[in-house]
Amino acid sequence: MERTHYCGTLRRTHIGLQATVCGWVLTCRDMGGVIFVDVRDREGVVQTVFDQAVADPASFALAERLKNQSVVQITGEVRLRDESTYNPALPTGEVELAASHMELLSAADTLPFSLSDEEPVREELRLKYRYLDLRRPQMYRNLLFRHTLLGEVQRLLNDQGFLQVETPVLCKSTPEGARDYLVPSRVHPGTFYALPQSPQIYKQLLMVSGIDKYYQVARCFRDEDGRADRQPEFTQFDMEMSFIDPEDIQTVVEGAYAHVFKELMGVELSLPLRRITWRDAMARYGSDKPDTRFGMEIQDVSEVVAGCGFRVFEEALAAGNTICAICAGGAGHLSRKELDALGEFVKTYHVKGLAWAVVNEDGTLRSSFAKAMQGDSMQRLLDAVSAKPGDAVFVIADKKYVALTAMGQLRLRLGKQLNLIDSKRYDLLWVTEFPLLEWSDEENRFLAMHHPFTNVMEEDIPLMDTDPGAVRAKAYDLVINGVEMGSGSIRIHRSDMQEKMFSLLGFTKEQAWEQFGFLMGAFQYGTPPHGGFAFGIDRMVMILSGADSLRDVLAFPKIQNGTCPMMDTPSTVQPEQLEQLKIRCVE
Ligand code: AMO
Repeated sequence: MERTHYCGTLRRTHIGLQATVCGWVLTCRDMGGVIFVDVRDREGVVQTVFDQAVADPASFALAERLKNQSVVQITGEVRLRDESTYNPALPTGEVELAASHMELLSAADTLPFSLSDEEPVREELRLKYRYLDLRRPQMYRNLLFRHTLLGEVQRLLNDQGFLQVETPVLCKSTPEGARDYLVPSRVHPGTFYALPQSPQIYKQLLMVSGIDKYYQVARCFRDEDGRADRQPEFTQFDMEMSFIDPEDIQTVVEGAYAHVFKELMGVELSLPLRRITWRDAMARYGSDKPDTRFGMEIQDVSEVVAGCGFRVFEEALAAGNTICAICAGGAGHLSRKELDALGEFVKTYHVKGLAWAVVNEDGTLRSSFAKAMQGDSMQRLLDAVSAKPGDAVFVIADKKYVALTAMGQLRLRLGKQLNLIDSKRYDLLWVTEFPLLEWSDEENRFLAMHHPFTNVMEEDIPLMDTDPGAVRAKAYDLVINGVEMGSGSIRIHRSDMQEKMFSLLGFTKEQAWEQFGFLMGAFQYGTPPHGGFAFGIDRMVMILSGADSLRDVLAFPKIQNGTCPMMDTPSTVQPEQLEQLKIRCVE
């Protein structure tokens, strides 16, 4: 094939040149004697013109019966368009290709849906024919953006002496974190590999090996329920460094974000990025990934309402619970129905209810609980949250983090409903000092909040024996606009400490050594202090490219229920395959 130019690259400077383009027929317009065929490839669209006086007869005849989306190769001379027919919407809009010859490389049937960006298409249909969907310019732009972003971060880290190392995809199942995808072994029937949830343990072992600065564009697999910001397989830009403090790794990561923002978005980030502790983030925003593009911060009003007489608040305080409030500026117009809907909304976050009070423009009050508040307690509450006429105040009483989490979700919903979020703004921040552990009522034991390899803040080590739930970890997440973009920590690098961590997670010493002996054993042969970080690449591309879903930034994503409508995966397999694996399905 002798393609000389991409369609979208032809310009005035090419006038007079013989060019050959290859691409997909976008439109054909037969003007009687002259046929205009717009051809598109990944770089854009160019108009080609078939004139009986110029094109060979076979090519002209072909142009008369071309079907859209057929693949053609067209040769001709690049010429200036008549000025009145310039198309300012196209970068190639001042030129056209006067076709002399065309080859039909592949004829297309009628497509199952239109590829024009304007016409909305059901996502399931788009994904069933993903290879067609990817022909749309926006999808190509997303893939290009992803490619450029990965390339830039790789280049930056290469320049800083990082080594790219690939780690296995057939790994060992470990009982922490999300559910594993399992791969049965044929050679050792009854045993299974697990696909990696992340290269966490391998990268730590690379530090034991002295690799010192590592990165990898790593595919990770987690058998979790799908969400807009979660895919069963996704990509991390995974890194690890030896002999570092949290600030060292944060500096490298921030530098990478700043570089990407500058190169790809033209945005200068001001470094160092803001840092907020987990405790602060929860107290002020009710979230460990706060969206700080708007205020409406949460306030603890437990002391303000103490003794107010309202039974719900009094009982909550007596039970040691927290009472928190937000003041939604300008939300006073919300109707009773809308306020009730907010009450139903917070209940989905496991709180019993939502108390609300609206300060009318004339200073009077509409409220779900004012009648029950004695003396000046209502006024004290309104003063504490600086409520003005036209504002709405919302109060939740419950266990501390249950109440804060529900309030955080209400804050986000109101932020959107009241149009308080500037969608053009990027707020990046570090959330630090995460708790090491979180209690699981379901399992009746502590779980690691990040993963079991996260180290403890020095000053909290004594608490591991006395109050494990209060121990803070050397862990940090990077958050943009309320989305967790990446996560990292300083790791445990001593086997006694690792053993202790496993014991807090409910493992006996024997169980810990049986499952993680390869790691704790490695720590006994000379292990540098180390730590790292993993960028969620899909989320990063989604946020920076303005896409609504991870599915828009992956070439071949799964839909919500983990299936792929195009390949029809997952699918059943031949009975012989199961036989070889010595597997029998019970359903
Ligand atoms: P973590 O589990 O927080 O950390 O993952 C790091 C980042 O990966 C992204 N991410 C996902 N993206 C899409 N779909 C998913 N299902 C999904 N799950 C996670 C997020 C997240 O912040 N080994 C540690 C990292 C480390 O400590 O170095 C880890 O995997 O953006």
